[in-house]
Amino acid sequence: MGSKIVGSGSYVPDKCVTNKDLERIVDTSDEWIVRRTGIRERHLLEADEDPSKMGIAAARAACADAEASPGVIDLFVVATNFPDMICPGSSPFIASGLGLDQVPFFDLKAGCSGFVYGLAVADGLIRAGMYRHILLLGSEALSRVTDWSDRKTCVLFGDGAGAVLLEAGKQDEGVLGSAIFGDNDKAMLLHMPAGGTKEPASDSTLESGGHFLKMEGAGVYRSAVPMMESATRSALAAASLDLADVDWIIPHQANIRIIDSLGVRLGVERDKIITNLDRVANTSTASIPIALDEARKDGRIKSGDVVVMTAFGAGVTYGAVVVRF
Ligand code: ACO
Repeated sequence: MGSKIVGSGSYVPDKCVTNKDLERIVDTSDEWIVRRTGIRERHLLEADEDPSKMGIAAARAACADAEASPGVIDLFVVATNFPDMICPGSSPFIASGLGLDQVPFFDLKAGCSGFVYGLAVADGLIRAGMYRHILLLGSEALSRVTDWSDRKTCVLFGDGAGAVLLEAGKQDEGVLGSAIFGDNDKAMLLHMPAGGTKEPASDSTLESGGHFLKMEGAGVYRSAVPMMESATRSALAAASLDLADVDWIIPHQANIRIIDSLGVRLGVERDKIITNLDRVANTSTASIPIALDEARKDGRIKSGDVVVMTAFGAGVTYGAVVVRF
């Protein structure tokens, strides 16, 4: 028994914010952002938009792509770091929007590696024979936790959602191998100090900006490349494949310099690495499934192609999954 990706879907909000737009909000420039990150624009929710709408749209598109009714889904997993509500998360609201009746759901929090962790977990559950159809969604409304006066972070993020439908299949199709890791020494590289049980919301946490995402950019940068490289090599070893067998790599879309360095360290040609961060920026758990969906729909990823998806994120977590389409 194995698990196969039979459909994908994605959604980004209509509102598009360019680097030029950000020049009007913080002391930055289009030139700085493009040179340091590769990002040119991002899509953001309007203040009155419900973040669940992104996940509902992406999940519906994945089911339509698979020509499957949501009625076949027997488990729904939402990879997200900033849910609609800390309790009960995002999954029940999105499940309701999808009309999933009596289907178990849960949120999975594993930093920006959430989608890759989710694929590894979903594949394991299908292999164990527990479920036949798992809908896995990465959905993130980063604009809601971004400090729009902090130029070091606000230029990096976008909102969006991406989903895949996994179906039980044969051993040698779909997910061929996966490897997930964590390094808890680096937990504070990316964090939101307030709003949890350690530092509940109060006037002082509001005043100190404790409800915004904090990032030590250079520390993240240094860790990201070696982590994604080793995870990619481990997942390929688990799949008994090597880099020559790989048609496409889809890395977490955080920074073009990180992605280019990863390509150099792996010895993979640049045109085998799928990127879209120039248009959507870093959408955390949604970044890989959005890029995957685009590349499937525009015909780059074809039936039989071997694709490695690799990510790193808060925790820090990192990992990779090898999939044959
Ligand atoms: N515009 C103009 N100048 C800026 C900006 C900006 N938006 N941001 C920072 N600067 C300035 C800094 O203040 C600093 O100025 P100084 O030298 O006068 O102090 C200078 O630019 C250099 O800053 P650095 O932080 O050293 O810039 P760096 O080259 O490291 O790039 C960046 C910063 C883009 C954040 C980089 O470190 C990075 O990409 N790190 C990884 C971040 C990442 O991957 N995050 C993803 C994980 S989080 C998640 O996915 C949810």
